[in-house]
Amino acid sequence: MEKLIFLDNGATSFPKPEEVYAFMDNFYRNFGVNPGRSGYDLCMETGELVETTRKMLIKFFNGKDPNRLCFSYNATDALNLIINGMLKKGDHAITTTIEHNSVLRPLYHLYKYNGVEVDYIPFNGKGFVDPDDFLRRIKKNTKLIIVNHASNVIGTIQPIKEIGEHCKERGIPFVIDASQSAGKIPVDIEEMNVDIVAFTGHKSLLGPMGIGGLYVREGIEIKHTRAGGTGVRSAVRTHLDEYPYRLEYGTLNVLGVAGLYAGVKWIEKKGLNNIHNNEMKLTTMLRDGLKDIEGVTLYCQDDLSDHISILPFNVNGLEALNTGTILDVDYNIASRTGLHCAPLVHKQLGTDKIHGAVRFGIGPFNTEEHINTAIKAVREITESHKK
Ligand SMILES: Cc1ncc(COP(=O)(O)O)c(C=O)c1O
Repeated sequence: MEKLIFLDNGATSFPKPEEVYAFMDNFYRNFGVNPGRSGYDLCMETGELVETTRKMLIKFFNGKDPNRLCFSYNATDALNLIINGMLKKGDHAITTTIEHNSVLRPLYHLYKYNGVEVDYIPFNGKGFVDPDDFLRRIKKNTKLIIVNHASNVIGTIQPIKEIGEHCKERGIPFVIDASQSAGKIPVDIEEMNVDIVAFTGHKSLLGPMGIGGLYVREGIEIKHTRAGGTGVRSAVRTHLDEYPYRLEYGTLNVLGVAGLYAGVKWIEKKGLNNIHNNEMKLTTMLRDGLKDIEGVTLYCQDDLSDHISILPFNVNGLEALNTGTILDVDYNIASRTGLHCAPLVHKQLGTDKIHGAVRFGIGPFNTEEHINTAIKAVREITESHKK
């Protein structure tokens, strides 16, 4: 069997750079103790890596205070901390139909069980939300605006800076979900007027699963919705208010932090722009190849200038799941099919009625050969389906 062609990098990046595996292996063998819990040298050294990684990520997001970079277990975990810690009964939040369930579901829970009102801004035919739509929906009780930086279904990069300007003017905390964007394009919270960024480690930041985090700008507070051990000031009966402890609970995933550290180092060595440009070159090749096939429908892929390397399509008349299965079984190509945990995107595209779409997600280790094979495979599937 040919080697697997992995085009499911939107779900998780695979493989990781060799440096990530090697660093994690060495780190866990030699420094895998609980950081910040005791004063012996090894514990201090492990703690050093955690603090170095906070600093590194602060630089990556152009934040200021490393203590306000808190580690979580993934973006979903970070987004739950943010959403549940910032909204209470009677509040109003604005989000978009581009969001992932990691935003939609916590918000819906608050709506259903806690009386929080939520407005959803739709995207236009090209896949972008209009910043002025947010202005039109802002109310006296609007306490949070939360937007997905880059769509995990249609790949569009949203006008975060402009939405952020509106939020800043109105004094409304602005959160972005950078799960898909971090590690592909710059996530500069100053430049983009962002107050809180949530990220996951296992996608384009090239770390392992089980690590993520959030950065909270000074002056913005998230109420703690959990409580537990922090390793410091153990006699205090309530959970600590100071960051990062405020939003960290129990033993950190230090192995995950180590992998994230190595992943970000690798990105810095290669250059974010170089990685993104290469991925977009391949995405454009793929888009052009699929566009030429009669019987294939692409979604929001006409102009790729404000896109990341995510490409959704369907073979007309074939369920996405079936296309994905044929790609897997006959061609050894991994894709992602279905609703991609973003049901409102598919509802707006109308693809919810056909159980979603097939998504190719291109990563730093994909090649032109992979793309040519994928185009050929989709062409053959389309032709044989027509017969
Ligand atoms: C846009 C977006 N947000 C949030 C998430 C959730 O990430 P995680 O599963 O790492 O929590 C994903 C993952 O697919 C995503 O694509």
